[in-house]
Amino acid sequence: MSNQIDQLSTNQAGHLEIGGVDSLDLVKQYKTPLVVYDVKSIRDQIHHFQKVFQDNGVDFAVSYASKAFACIAMFQLINQEKAHIDVVSGGELYTAIKAGFPMERVSFHGNDKSREELEMAVEHQIGVIILDNFHEIDLLKEVLEDKQSHINVMLRVTPGVSAHTHEYDQTGQVDSKFGFDIQSGQARKALGLVLEDQRMNMLGIHCHIGSQIFEVKGFEMAAVKLIDTLADWNKEIGYVAKVVNVGGGFGIKYTEDDDPIAPEMFVDAIVKAIKKRTEEVNLPMPAVWIEPGRSIAGPAGYNLYTVGSRKDVPGIRSYVTVDGGMGDNIRPALYQAKYEAVLAKNPSAPIKETVRIAGKYCESGDILIQKQDLPATQPGDVLAMLDTGAYGYAMASNYNRNPRPAVVFVENGKSQVAIRRETFEDLVALDEEFN
Ligand SMILES: Cc1ncc(COP(=O)(O)O)c(C=O)c1O
Repeated sequence: MSNQIDQLSTNQAGHLEIGGVDSLDLVKQYKTPLVVYDVKSIRDQIHHFQKVFQDNGVDFAVSYASKAFACIAMFQLINQEKAHIDVVSGGELYTAIKAGFPMERVSFHGNDKSREELEMAVEHQIGVIILDNFHEIDLLKEVLEDKQSHINVMLRVTPGVSAHTHEYDQTGQVDSKFGFDIQSGQARKALGLVLEDQRMNMLGIHCHIGSQIFEVKGFEMAAVKLIDTLADWNKEIGYVAKVVNVGGGFGIKYTEDDDPIAPEMFVDAIVKAIKKRTEEVNLPMPAVWIEPGRSIAGPAGYNLYTVGSRKDVPGIRSYVTVDGGMGDNIRPALYQAKYEAVLAKNPSAPIKETVRIAGKYCESGDILIQKQDLPATQPGDVLAMLDTGAYGYAMASNYNRNPRPAVVFVENGKSQVAIRRETFEDLVALDEEFN
């Protein structure tokens, strides 16, 4: 069992406490499976990022990558902290609109934005569209012409840096579906197309080299590559970028095997690398934008499950099944993501056994945790899976027609529903009768 537990709060009864609320009281009130966010953790991480920029005296934006977890309440919380958001779909943008999120602090990403999505972004005059490919430049030109409008844009480029992380998470290398390649001249060509269009205001460049990255080096290399690219463009045509956006990807601790530096320390290193390089190549210091998703939402999240059945396979292993699984967190099944879980009524109870924690979905691969040390458990016990706040509920499905869990925000001893639990009625709400 890892030192994750040492950092958990427990109350006088010894129960896991989240945001000052007893996790078992949350279960009584909201049932399981339940997704719980510790709001203070989200606020604190945003503040840590903001402080690094302030300490370095650099213009900045902390843009929460809302794909990690988006809902109206989350956007309103992010807005309270004066952060930006990035969205990757009309749906995320619509949620931001419904949340009353200031549109000038929205960036729009994605490698296949539709014409309708671009129209929506232009109509709402969002802060910036991050252009990903030539087709999108053409589409946006048409939309801007039709609407007789203007918009800020950035170019997403692939700097050719391959981060040391899981293969599926790598997006910064040359062989990627995202962005314009620098090496082959695609990015330079895209710059020309954007600059010749008076309706697009070219703010700067963006890259995102991957996710759950532990090494600072890759970020520094990417940052230097971006500045060198800007230096080339400056020499060639006098272009000066206002913004350099280095994306997200700062790794977090899921299990005892993970030992990342604090997320804001990545940013400190990146800012220093950008400062140094801009001085070396004689460019003005741009504003630096970051897009952390996992590092803001991940550690703040807990998935609470009730233990149900158990299967002991003699001489092999024991399976302890809970009332959720791949429908509320597909990451373990999708890319073998690892988590840790604790017994909510006593997170530091002596360990009795190592079990496999299985979900309730009809897939052999629906295993939440392959090997978990636990005290003895009984049906009805509550397990809390830790650090589940990023890409968990966000990727939830109704597989097996299971309703998606409720999401609750907790702070200062108070809880509130952020997303209500789906009902069976919700499940059939879109179904039509067969005639
Ligand atoms: C463009 C972009 N920015 C930011 C992020 C957020 O990354 P993370 O959640 O690892 O910080 C992603 C994740 O895929 C991304 O694609």
